[in-house]
Amino acid sequence: MNNKLLIKLSDNCYWNPDTRIVIGRDKVIVLTSSMTRLLNYLVNNFDKSVHSIDIFLDIFYEYDKEFKAKIIRNMISDLRKKVPCLEISNFYGGLYMLRKFHDDTSEFQKYLPDILDQAKNGITITDPNRPDNPLIYVNQAFSDLFGYTRDEVIHKNCRFLHGDDREQLALDEIRHAITAKTNVTVTLRNYDKEGQLIYNEITISPIFDKETGKLLYFLGVQKDVSRVNQLMQQIKGIV
Ligand SMILES: Cc1cc2nc3c(=O)[nH]c(=O)nc-3n(C[C@H](O)[C@H](O)[C@H](O)COP(=O)(O)O)c2cc1C
Repeated sequence: MNNKLLIKLSDNCYWNPDTRIVIGRDKVIVLTSSMTRLLNYLVNNFDKSVHSIDIFLDIFYEYDKEFKAKIIRNMISDLRKKVPCLEISNFYGGLYMLRKFHDDTSEFQKYLPDILDQAKNGITITDPNRPDNPLIYVNQAFSDLFGYTRDEVIHKNCRFLHGDDREQLALDEIRHAITAKTNVTVTLRNYDKEGQLIYNEITISPIFDKETGKLLYFLGVQKDVSRVNQLMQQIKGIV
């Protein structure tokens, strides 16, 4: 196959308009001629939203046919089913757009660890599919806040941050959210490596595989709210 003829539709998804063949995720898919016309129209309008009627007028040579948005909807839906790696966005009111594949995705992925490390809040990821839901990632802000290096905390459950201060109502909320696989935001009393009290406003979110719905990870974002807490105590003392 002549590679020059291939159009990159998305990551791992190429289309040869001449042969009407799409190569997507190791699968070869042959499109019907109407799908090819539709895809061609969308490719020509990459990153530009197009209305059903524009698509209809461009791809339907039988102009005497009455325009029906439903026909376009069905065609788009057939194309989506046949080529699942295609990203055709659908907006309110019958507007469609083929999202351009940006080759800089890999560049962004390359910098992802740096991006997470330069975040100002602590970021943690745990693996609920391993015994005791251990930490598998902590960013630099987490290490800076609690004084532990990455190696000291990876593979441990985050509960070591409570020290001996285990009677905290907020922990019940966390246990419940983890069991129910839902989001939770609470403030905990945590202790850094030196034993210094830190008020930690933590948000925990479950992360699912979008296709299978399987729970993959929990994401935790830790924010130091000690200063705010201190001020609140002072205000309470004055009032
Ligand atoms: C992603 C994630 C991040 C967490 N971060 C913290 C944290 O920063 N501080 C903390 O005290 N507990 C944190 N926890 C909660 C504990 O790991 C644990 O779920 C909690 O202590 C209740 O469970 P346990 O009764 O088994 O200890 C986190 C949990 C998850 C899933």
